Amino acid sequence: MHLHKYEKIWLIFGIGSLLVFLSVIGVGAYYKGQQPPSCLTTIDPEKVDQTAPFDQPGVKQVGDNHYQVAIVMQAFAFTPNTIKVPKGATVDFVVTTKDVVHGFEIAGTNVNMMVEPGYVSTATKVFDKKGEYLILCNEYCGTGHHMMTAKVEVTD
Ligand code: CUA
Repeated sequence: MHLHKYEKIWLIFGIGSLLVFLSVIGVGAYYKGQQPPSCLTTIDPEKVDQTAPFDQPGVKQVGDNHYQVAIVMQAFAFTPNTIKVPKGATVDFVVTTKDVVHGFEIAGTNVNMMVEPGYVSTATKVFDKKGEYLILCNEYCGTGHHMMTAKVEVTD
């Protein structure tokens, strides 16, 4: 009978510590940010033009209804500055900068990320409606900042 009782206590203690442990991990992960980081890959900002996929910026089909769009940002332009993708396709934006920090925002969507020299930022988007979407730099980058725009054309 004694053993039985102790076993129960240890079992409760064990489950209790497990819960504490899991909640600490959960809280830790939460504080690191609600969104996964968008820039995990590094790049030499001096060699953007020679580094794939930025050596050939633009739209590339990578699978069935799946596209990768490589974009190079530099004060004060996007290369390329017009991107055409079909409606309903999965589009992976892969973005870097050759100079200073820029912001990559597609107006009216949840795509909004910082683009820092030395890093590759990525975002995935499915455009459900055809039309034109404005891409803008939303991080102050110098005198031409307000003119730094591009567009996505979503076709049928
Ligand atoms: Cu680039 Cu603001």
